[in-house]
Amino acid sequence: MRSAERGIQTTISESLPPLSTALWHHHHVLDLDDFTREEIEVVMDIADVMSEILQREVKRVPTLRGRTVVTMFYEPSTRTRASFELAAKSLSADTVSLDATRSSVAKGESLLDTLLTIQALGADIIVMRHQHSGAPYIAARHVKASIINAGDGWHAHPSQALLDIYTIRKHLGDLKDRKIAIIGDIMHSRVARSNIWGMTTMGAKVVLCGPPTLLSPGLKEFIAHCRPGQVTIETELENAIRDADVVMPLRLQIERQQSGLLPSLREYVQLYQINEEKLSIAKPHALVMHPGPMNEGIEISAGVARGAQSVIEEQVNNGVAVRMALLYLVAGGRGG
Ligand code: CP
Repeated sequence: MRSAERGIQTTISESLPPLSTALWHHHHVLDLDDFTREEIEVVMDIADVMSEILQREVKRVPTLRGRTVVTMFYEPSTRTRASFELAAKSLSADTVSLDATRSSVAKGESLLDTLLTIQALGADIIVMRHQHSGAPYIAARHVKASIINAGDGWHAHPSQALLDIYTIRKHLGDLKDRKIAIIGDIMHSRVARSNIWGMTTMGAKVVLCGPPTLLSPGLKEFIAHCRPGQVTIETELENAIRDADVVMPLRLQIERQQSGLLPSLREYVQLYQINEEKLSIAKPHALVMHPGPMNEGIEISAGVARGAQSVIEEQVNNGVAVRMALLYLVAGGRGG
């Protein structure tokens, strides 16, 4: 057992102890491209402890008492925002929820001014979603608070990838040499990009599959930076999901589609929807995952979404524990 985990387990009835900085080096969580396997495992181990806390009658520990967590969302969200807020409350942090459409952003305030204002109000951790790729990196350069990227443009969504990895580990034990098929709108998917980094770091083989127009021109260059041989591109759905351990269709991001990327929605459904027939090509007990929100009847059939192999609700549920672990870790990384 890891020393950090051992320490946590001995004091869990009270609160979580200060973190051993030997195992964790991140002041911010911007993506998983700079995470080692050991660091991902630390998140998983601590998420297990958080999961136990969430099963108690009183789902609260005083770990972040006196700390302020601000959620700052420039794009819509249900799961990520709600689970970060629940996670912060379960750790007894003070929480502020900033909706960009109802803040001074609507009056023209810049991102930087908003960040500095929030920092001046005492934010220790800022959980941020932004429509522009790279926005959390700019934030991280200008504020002392820890920045957690809750999704930036098409670029990254690290907490989603970590909860996906956590969910797979719960079912399959290990990701090493597991075949994970990510299907559909890869081009617009920040979830796919963060999952590629995280899953390959954990030893999985990731197959990306979709119509050629949704496998973006830069995808091959992106893959060239990943571990050799662990990420492949496939346009035939059957080849991608044959013997897969995990099948993850992605939401067809209609709001981000430029005209002409899809010949027709009907053809997309016919060729790429994960339904019972297509799922039968994967391993018999393959997990069906979806980061949400789903377009049921488009990238996934209702039967598969609610079927016995689906762990989609469990992903949402695990999101709270994983986000508690991240809040705890970035707070600990500041010497807490
Ligand atoms: N998976 C995800 O990011 O969902 P939300 O947009 O609801 O946060």
